[in-house]
Amino acid sequence: MRSQTSEKILIVDDEHEIARALGLYLEDAGYAPALVFDGSAALDALIFEKDYTVVLLDINMPGLDGVTVLKRLQAAECDTAVIMMTGRGNENLAVECMKNGAEDYISKPFAFEDMLQRVERAQAHRRERIEKRQLQREKEDFILMLSHDLKNPLTAVIGSIDIVKEGCLGTVNEEQGEYLQSAIDSCNEVVTMIDNLLDIRKFEAGKIHMATHQHNIIELVTKVANQFARPAKHDGIEFVTDLETESLLVEVDKNAFIRVVGNLLGNALKFTHEGGTITVNCHRFRGDRPCLLDIPAYITLPPDFLNNTCIVRLSVSNTGNGIPLDELEHIFDRFTQLSRKNGRERSGAGLGLTYCKLAVERFNGVIWVESKEQQSEFVILLPCSSNNHT
Ligand SMILES: Nc1ncnc2c1ncn2[C@@H]1O[C@H](COP(=O)(O)OP(=O)(O)OP(=O)(O)O)[C@@H](O)[C@H]1O
Ligand SMILES: [Mg+2]
Repeated sequence: MRSQTSEKILIVDDEHEIARALGLYLEDAGYAPALVFDGSAALDALIFEKDYTVVLLDINMPGLDGVTVLKRLQAAECDTAVIMMTGRGNENLAVECMKNGAEDYISKPFAFEDMLQRVERAQAHRRERIEKRQLQREKEDFILMLSHDLKNPLTAVIGSIDIVKEGCLGTVNEEQGEYLQSAIDSCNEVVTMIDNLLDIRKFEAGKIHMATHQHNIIELVTKVANQFARPAKHDGIEFVTDLETESLLVEVDKNAFIRVVGNLLGNALKFTHEGGTITVNCHRFRGDRPCLLDIPAYITLPPDFLNNTCIVRLSVSNTGNGIPLDELEHIFDRFTQLSRKNGRERSGAGLGLTYCKLAVERFNGVIWVESKEQQSEFVILLPCSSNNHT
């Protein structure tokens, strides 16, 4: 019942009579209205008192007008729902205000019952908005808490298994060693998933820290590829590397780049059948840069990308089921996984490629996937430093 709410409403109008009459009406309806007669008094009240649920804001006022007040409230991330009051003929301006965050508008002269309905509606929307934001915050806190609480014990588990595997507690035969390694690999998979999730959230919040420096990416790719050669062989998969013989200097964050390549190779390993092949390819292009011709039309290039005189093309391809054409663009979206039919048991959360895309974009590069004839190829183009050897 509205008569029990006593919620605070601010009425802002330089026409005192209208403000007073509206105030009396709203008071009768059970609200706690306060009146001010100009824009700067409104800002003081709304920003410093903070507990107004709705403000009824006249557009045309001398001094600070309603539109300016609205913009300042938005900039101050004020929670109060704003209903603009405008004279007839000023509706376009009112619509503009709604685009700038106003909840509603009403044209003068108006019936008080009409205003009351709008106030109730604005309050309901505001409550929904606040509840949704609160829920989102709780969800984020929960994910963060869960991620940390999962990661710490997992790291301890990996450490303990490693001690046993290394023979520190007694001799371990080859078969036992393989089982222990496979337990470590599975734990590492979960740790990677948690790291991806936490970092994607940091990217989205603009809080990721990237220590970008020039690195020889041939060295980094070789390092990651070597880690995957053994499990590939174990699964009966041919593992081929075709890398530029000289160093290629690229501005990347070393750990993030290693994770990107690790995510791509982890996928290749998951989605290649026994007897299949994984190929890692990394070369430099200059001059006419034929590698640019492959870029799909839906990819947005970073500004000035085409002005780079030297570009590195890194690709990870694998045989398997391939990826349907209509999925090529979407598999980089968070939590996207294709159907689990036809293949080996696949673990994962659908986050690895999202991480890859966000990280590659931070290196001013592009990433996409191509797929044909039961083969997928993930391609990354990165601007390459001009002081590479020619
Ligand atoms: N090399 C590949 N061959 C075929 N399909 C792939 C390949 N890489 C990715 N995919 C498809 O894209 C989906 C998304 O990949 P992504 O790496 O984001 O998630 P995931 O591997 O399922 O889980 P996570 O990386 O979080 O452990 C995969 O589930 C799979 O369906
Ligand atoms: Mg993955």
